[in-house]
Amino acid sequence: MIFSDSFNSSFLITVSAVQNSNKDGVIITSALPYANGEIHLGHISSTYLPADIFRRFLKLNAVQVYHLCASDDFGTPVLIETEKKKMKPELYVKYWHDKDLEDFNSVGIVFDSFSQTSSDTNRGFVQYVFNVLKKRELVYEKEVVQYYCEKDSKFLPDRYVVGKCPYCNAMDQYSDLCEKCGRIPEKILDPKCAICGISPIKKNSNHYFFKLSNFEDILEKWLKENELLQQDVKKYVLNWIVEGLQDWDITRDISWGVPIPISSNEKKDKVFYGWFDNHLCYISSFIELLGDTNRAREKWNNSKIYHFIGKDIVYHHYLFLPAIRIGINKEYKLPDFIPTRGHLMLQNNKISKSRNWYIGLREFVDLFQPDYLRFYIASICSYSQDDINFDWNDFEKKINNELIANIGNFINRTLTFIKKYFGNIIPNPKEYDNTDRNSLEEIERIGNIVGGSILSNEIDRALKNILYFSSTFNQYFQKKEPWKNPEESGSALFISINAVRSISILLEPFIPFSVEKVWKQLGLEGNIHDQNWKTIGTISLSPGHKLGDIEPIFKKVDTDKIKEQVSKLNIR
Ligand code: MF3
Ligand code: ZN
Repeated sequence: MIFSDSFNSSFLITVSAVQNSNKDGVIITSALPYANGEIHLGHISSTYLPADIFRRFLKLNAVQVYHLCASDDFGTPVLIETEKKKMKPELYVKYWHDKDLEDFNSVGIVFDSFSQTSSDTNRGFVQYVFNVLKKRELVYEKEVVQYYCEKDSKFLPDRYVVGKCPYCNAMDQYSDLCEKCGRIPEKILDPKCAICGISPIKKNSNHYFFKLSNFEDILEKWLKENELLQQDVKKYVLNWIVEGLQDWDITRDISWGVPIPISSNEKKDKVFYGWFDNHLCYISSFIELLGDTNRAREKWNNSKIYHFIGKDIVYHHYLFLPAIRIGINKEYKLPDFIPTRGHLMLQNNKISKSRNWYIGLREFVDLFQPDYLRFYIASICSYSQDDINFDWNDFEKKINNELIANIGNFINRTLTFIKKYFGNIIPNPKEYDNTDRNSLEEIERIGNIVGGSILSNEIDRALKNILYFSSTFNQYFQKKEPWKNPEESGSALFISINAVRSISILLEPFIPFSVEKVWKQLGLEGNIHDQNWKTIGTISLSPGHKLGDIEPIFKKVDTDKIKEQVSKLNIR
């Protein structure tokens, strides 16, 4: 039985702790998407949907929560695209910033701030952090040999160079990140210019380095002491420390980035590395949002901090980011949690835009309601490094057999029955029998069970528990056979309609658009998004309450439409 299997009393304490400690807020950040392309299902499943579900859950528990994000405007991934398109970077990133935000909103992913790393606030904050690090002698200048393309007459940092990873020998990796093994190659093998493909020459250039190597012990201690970080991630990050951490070159010879706050001719063609400025935007966007640095700092330090990320940026978030925060004397506290998830595969193949093996968010929402996406992704979204798989047939099955045949059916049959036999008015219960009492107990318990799973980031399990709850109530309805003697069915319908109310709040974090409709059909005032999680366990719909207009909430997914999607996918 799912209930007893996931019933963990420590979760219960946590749920009530959340409910009682809403003075301290929670700050959630989602990894900043590069402002150079469309949001696709892979982004949604590894980062943004889990973060949004968590935010919605905390809101329902009256916790003050901020979900922060921004477009990642700087760095070579963006610059390379603007050069290809011959566009001004400012215009280009603004275009993607606006489009990405619109796409996120179209699937109900809500941010309290969606800024840009190129904002004035972030530029100022990045320069401030650099100055503090410099004063504390945690950055130093060093002449380095850089690749330079004579054909394109430019330095070739990061993604401008592709080659073989020195650690795992994977081919075609960027010089700043190996996507195969997740490490940052110190020296890429067989380098080629990413623009024109010729072998670059080498040229000297003066750069700033951050002394990441100084932080090995303190990072190790932080990782080991922090029980809330995922064990499996921690293990391989600790291994990286054992292998030794390299200092980070935090400047680049390109024009697009945060300028180095030192007036000298030699520095004027240099900017900060994108990975120096982007994560600082988590903090600066909060400062920007509150409009007051002191207040933002105080609030940041009194909040629980969650950074939601995909597993490809573990190095940056478990080592580099905390080291910088320690480097500025923990003026802003380190993360409490870094929920990290694996990649989404599509029909068992790695998602790849260049090979046309991906589904854009916009494309999906044009085909199916956003809640179908949210429901399906949440149902397969494990809290681990393992990759998960989007499969069109599985999608069809989960929507039709679980969301519709189980949840939709229970909601609709209850509402319809009351409409048909009781003139849309909730009937009075009669005397309860054991079955009724068991059902009432299920209602009482379910909020803590589902809440516990969401708090421990297991959204797939949370959804399983809701499905179990709903199927229990389908069985209850079936057993009570209200159609045999409608006049005597008051208890069954009274309890069922209250279960419908509970289900709609339970599902708010998962399928927010659909439960809005259920709320209306229940004839309830107010906004479902503002309800309180605690009331899931209460019987708050009274006899005599009038329901709203009733119609089916969901529409079945059509098999032909699925076949069409499968045949459309073709690896280039
Ligand atoms: N833009 C980066 C990526 O897509 C993520 C930046 S997250 C932050 O890999 F920490 F830097 F903000
Ligand atoms: Zn070149």
